[in-house]
Amino acid sequence: MTQTPIAANEYDTFRHYLEDACGIVLGENKHYLVSSRLKRVTEEFSFPTLSDMMSTLVKGNDRHLREKVIDAMTTNETMWFRDVYPFEILRKELIPELAKKKAPIKIWSAASSTGQEAYSISMTTTEFQQSNPGVLTSKVEIVGTDISQTVVNKAKLGRYDELSVVRGLSPERRDKFFSKKDDQWAINTDIVQRTRFTELNLLNNYSLLGKFDIIFCRNVLIYFSSEMKKDILERMAGILKPGGTLILGGSESPTGYTKKFAMVRYPDGVVYRLHD
Ligand SMILES: C[S@@+](CC[C@H](N)C(=O)[O-])C[C@H]1O[C@@H](n2cnc3c(N)ncnc32)[C@H](O)[C@@H]1O
Repeated sequence: MTQTPIAANEYDTFRHYLEDACGIVLGENKHYLVSSRLKRVTEEFSFPTLSDMMSTLVKGNDRHLREKVIDAMTTNETMWFRDVYPFEILRKELIPELAKKKAPIKIWSAASSTGQEAYSISMTTTEFQQSNPGVLTSKVEIVGTDISQTVVNKAKLGRYDELSVVRGLSPERRDKFFSKKDDQWAINTDIVQRTRFTELNLLNNYSLLGKFDIIFCRNVLIYFSSEMKKDILERMAGILKPGGTLILGGSESPTGYTKKFAMVRYPDGVVYRLHD
């Protein structure tokens, strides 16, 4: 099938559709990107043209098509211990502080993609316990969520190919936390058992997740409009425990969207703490 460029009116319809469905804001001139990403979906669902696919999509009755389109338009880029500093702050500052309370610790990896962030948090917890025996005695639970069922299923599986296992992971950590199963690397059970993964659209209600000590919401807010960022950050503040911590991506900040957080500077980097 030859690729038909997306018509101007269809592009506008699609921009609104995508923003309503998952918060992602497309610029004015991403026609080529949209046509090329949707071409794959159009072919997979055997629609004669992109226009046919679009008219079924916007009717909103085909959940499977909706998921495939969101999958095609989102970036699932991630890696182990991404940017390093959030995990250093977790190990050196946040876990020691929370360990003193002797209460269960709950951490949310919002937009967890294929699970590397949530599992890096779990590995950091194990490393803390190994170098500080007897200090962290309470249970640590890590909840990973993402809008995409495909990436949530991958995360739950906890198996990674050679190419993704090397991204951000030292050979020492790989050998310590994974076992080789055929041509894949499977994460060890003690790392997996602290985690659970579930599908969740950040535009929807989070209250069922419970209250968290720490939220990692990294490299996803950048795709959203200012109103969405404000709404998400306010609602995240609502499910943090008193004094809870929000960790954002390197280019993200709550400044200008909410006054519920104060910036905390550690030698390794910056996090945001819920105001009392
Ligand atoms: C670039 S990845 C970031 C993964 C990880 N947090 C990291 O920093 O490495 C962005 C993730 O956000 C997810 N996402 C996009 N829109 C979302 C939404 N409305 N609700 C939940 N997840 C969303 C995508 O499916 C993708 O897996």
